[in-house]
Amino acid sequence: MAVLAVVVSYLIGSIPVGYLLGRIRGIDIRKYGSGNIGTTNVWRNLGPVAGTIALIGDTGKGLLAVLLGRYLGGGGLELACGLAAIAGHSWPVFLGFRGGKIIATGLGVFLGLAPVAALLALGLWALVVVASGYVSLGSIVAAVSMPLWMLLLGRPREHLFFALLVAVIAVYKHIPNIRRLLAGTESKIR
Ligand code: G3P
Repeated sequence: MAVLAVVVSYLIGSIPVGYLLGRIRGIDIRKYGSGNIGTTNVWRNLGPVAGTIALIGDTGKGLLAVLLGRYLGGGGLELACGLAAIAGHSWPVFLGFRGGKIIATGLGVFLGLAPVAALLALGLWALVVVASGYVSLGSIVAAVSMPLWMLLLGRPREHLFFALLVAVIAVYKHIPNIRRLLAGTESKIR
């Protein structure tokens, strides 16, 4: 049952919400803007309605996977299902294992696992995005802050290590953004 829950979570995470929204509007979102299938690029190219649907869909995937793990066993299974959804979003079986940057799906996972920490990271994300104009910078800072919130809020050690692992994946997925930020060529929201 545990293995099935993890596989189902991976498949849920693999649902390429942003890509499907692009297809509905007749475009391959991977050929526009940053080429990412995530909320930011969907918002950038398809507008706020599609962007909001992508945000809800991608966040919902992560939350759903954690709730599935909790319902079927809790503890380590919650973490395994959350990680599987993140892996699915990042390396989706339906898109040749080339997926998103895990920020919205990660938010959903952490809203299920540690909601206060997730909301603190979300607040930090908003602050950095408003101050800098860069969504990617906000995403990187928020992801890297998650282990810190886990520590400060006294969450279990497994949550701390889980947040560390997710932060490493998030930074890895943002390497092209980091390169553009350093070169001064990253797109701003304004
Ligand atoms: O959540 C993804 C965001 O941090 C960056 O998106 O499209 O600017 O690469 P994008």
